[in-house]
Amino acid sequence: MSAHRFTAISTGLSMALLGALTSALAASAPPETSTCLACHGANGEGMAAAGYPRLAGLSSLYLTEQLNAYIDGRRVNAIMSGIANPLSAQQIQSIADYFSALPASSAPSPSALDAAQSSLGRQLAERGDWDNGIPACFNCHASGGIGVQPAFPPIAGQPAAYIEAQIKAWKTGTRQGSPQNLANALMYSVAMRMDETQTKAVAAWLAAQPLPAPDTRPAHTKP
Ligand code: HEC
Ligand code: HEC
Repeated sequence: MSAHRFTAISTGLSMALLGALTSALAASAPPETSTCLACHGANGEGMAAAGYPRLAGLSSLYLTEQLNAYIDGRRVNAIMSGIANPLSAQQIQSIADYFSALPASSAPSPSALDAAQSSLGRQLAERGDWDNGIPACFNCHASGGIGVQPAFPPIAGQPAAYIEAQIKAWKTGTRQGSPQNLANALMYSVAMRMDETQTKAVAAWLAAQPLPAPDTRPAHTKP
């Protein structure tokens, strides 16, 4: 075979591969996600300014649980309850699979923290407040707040307004677990011990933390 012909064949092959890959990627965005992107971002990265959370990289199990919670009233939110309600179990599954597979974006939201708030926020995240029975956030959400899949969601880089609203939701009963959801009970017991100043400080500090790109190195090469 001449070199010229070989190049032509391999170029044709890679074009075909590229075509297949592109349509596979396009096909993997299920139609039921199109309405979500206006608020949760084209790549599920969230919208910090509006307080809409990042969905990319949350576990499929966690996403499924949250959408079901909006449907059966364990989570109450004026916007999301109405959006989740008409979704079928099958649509929820494909939505959850889709967003969980997207890489979590790492852009942190700018923060207007003063030095005292910043050090309080950081202290709660890294060391907790044991006098008041509050464990460090990173004890459960991992160092850096990157989360531990599937039950402990990443909290670094989520919008401050969203983090704050969730802690308040646990305290006021608009975010509740089912008896089967022990994960929710864990976070409930933390939220109940937090006061307003702590909630604001830790939410703003976490929002300003970049979410590191996921470590995709093979396990045996990680430190
Ligand atoms: C009009 C804006 C808007 C649209 C459209 C929207 N969302 Fe949301 N979403 C929100 C807001 C606001 C919250 C925070 C609600 C709360 O505090 O519980 C949220 C929260 C969520 C959460 C909880 C995230 C977490 O970390 O626990 C999930 C899951 C979610 N949305 C999925 C979806 C899906 C799937 C769609 C499309 C079918 C969608 N959203 C469409 C605004 C929107
Ligand atoms: C004992 C373990 C534990 C500790 C400590 C903990 N969390 Fe959580 N947190 C959880 C679990 C589990 C969930 C998931 C709850 C669910 O499934 O509804 C969660 C969920 C959250 C969420 C909701 C995330 C989302 O996407 O909606 C926020 C915000 C949060 N935690 C903030 C904090 C902050 C801030 C601290 C430290 C002050 C903290 N957590 C400490 C276990 C913990």
